[in-house]
Amino acid sequence: MEPVSAAASKKELLDHKNAEAQSGGGEKRIKAQHEKGKLTARERILVLVDEGTFEEIGKFVVHRSHDFGLEKEHYLGDGVVTGYGKINGRVVYIFAQDFTVFGGSLSETHAEKICRIMDLAMKNGAPVIGLNDSGGARIQEGVLSLAGYADIFYKNTLASGVIPQISAVMGPCAGGAVYSPAITDFILMVENTSYMFVTGPNVVKTVTHEEVTSEELGGAMTHATKSGITHFVSPNEVECLLAIKKLLSYMPQNCEDDAPRLPYTPGNESRPALNSIIPDNANQPYDMREVIIELSDANSFFEVHQNFAENIVIGFSRIAGRNIGIVANQPAVLAGVLDIHASQKAARFVRFCDSFNIPLLVLEDVPGFLPGTDQEWNGIITNGAKLLYAFCEATVPRITVITRKAYGGAYDVMNSKHIGADMNFAWPTAEIAVMGASGAAEIIFKREIAKAENPAEKLQEKIQEYTDKFANPYRAAYRGYIDEVIYPEQTREKLIRAYEMLENKVDVLPRKKHGNIPL
Ligand code: HXC
Repeated sequence: MEPVSAAASKKELLDHKNAEAQSGGGEKRIKAQHEKGKLTARERILVLVDEGTFEEIGKFVVHRSHDFGLEKEHYLGDGVVTGYGKINGRVVYIFAQDFTVFGGSLSETHAEKICRIMDLAMKNGAPVIGLNDSGGARIQEGVLSLAGYADIFYKNTLASGVIPQISAVMGPCAGGAVYSPAITDFILMVENTSYMFVTGPNVVKTVTHEEVTSEELGGAMTHATKSGITHFVSPNEVECLLAIKKLLSYMPQNCEDDAPRLPYTPGNESRPALNSIIPDNANQPYDMREVIIELSDANSFFEVHQNFAENIVIGFSRIAGRNIGIVANQPAVLAGVLDIHASQKAARFVRFCDSFNIPLLVLEDVPGFLPGTDQEWNGIITNGAKLLYAFCEATVPRITVITRKAYGGAYDVMNSKHIGADMNFAWPTAEIAVMGASGAAEIIFKREIAKAENPAEKLQEKIQEYTDKFANPYRAAYRGYIDEVIYPEQTREKLIRAYEMLENKVDVLPRKKHGNIPL
């Protein structure tokens, strides 16, 4: 037999180590992962990045633990695959927890690997994508693991507003581990295979005596509809990874960068369908998504938080190739009223767009804030103030179109001219007033109505008087609070021109350490 040269045997050793790292926690555990309908960490990365672009960092890192038998058990990579690659030609940093190695649990070295790519992402100004699938803190490592989490939380916070951070939860995510995704900009979950909670069903049962499954407590649909923790829900992992790619296409690489823009050939921008969307009866609902779709470039609207606080619609879109963030009251749900959840949902989105130079479009049809003890006792004041504050502070180009109602405090909050909007348009159907005509008439003409021979008739007369005076956009236009009253069909063209005009907007907030948004 030929003697093996030193170089050949060294190459063999490297081949062997590469194969070992590649195999994660071994065939049996990979099979178990697949049987749950889940991909492995490496398979997920391959779906996510442009073909052949992933470069791994720290492939041979192993833990340093000597307790509870861990000294005998080492897996190359230590339960997390980290590195960088490209998505649609742009660099991203990725960590993907490998559930087949110690259940993807987070050790000191596992955390160091994540921190390393976060540091690189910060220095080089590119997004970080975390694919989470982990049993939480590596129990055998104790406080070292907790320290590792805290290091990640700290870096997540410092990176917030500097680079986009996206978290996909693709398996368990429990205990304090949930706080890294919570600090990041967007969370995606997969139906039936992922869950997030601070304390699991067993602890819940002991403490509150509630019987609840993991899925009910913290599954994807729970967080999509009840808590609003997750922004996107996908039926399977591949869809979830494709959603990340799409989401990234609306974002810049970092806060110094402009959002990517698609080439656009101007055409006929008139949209006559918009003329017939508002019903004749001002109390009838319509779907604001129809307006969004007419205004947007074909197939460009990407809704965020679709199943949560549906009385407000938020999402990314493109107008003439330019990325924008849309916040729109939804008259089809609760008449588009602003409540606690809608305010929270919109406020965080406004702040994301403002952090990353994405211009804002507000479509307004809002009867006011939702009344009631539930709302008042749970803090509609503080929560409504979040949205107000977020708009006030935003320095990106900001445009509002009032399609119908703009009543009361909600008129001010929804990106009014007074709080810094750049262009405010109204359709002829706009009604800009302190409140709806019937409520207003009942209050200000109370005595006159009571004294009238026929109070019901008098009330109607006064409602009509108030409607004629205020249920229109002209009072606001006379004052210049509305820049132009436009025909609905012109709206897209007006927006294209206005965003072009605002392209080089510079607005600076007063010097401060940071503001104190009502949290
Ligand atoms: C070490 C862990 C682990 C962990 C799972 N494993 N979680 N090893 N530390 N936290 C290992 C298991 O021993 C097992 O090893 C393998 O991963 C797969 O786990 P299984 O239990 O077989 O898988 P499954 O039935 O799918 O259950 C998954 C699970 C369960 C629900 C996540 O493993 C579990 O409850 N784990 C503990 C979760 C937990 O309490 N974590 C600490 C939370 S506190 P083998 O060798 O058999 O394959 C926390 C604090 C963070 O995280 C605080 C931050 C501030």
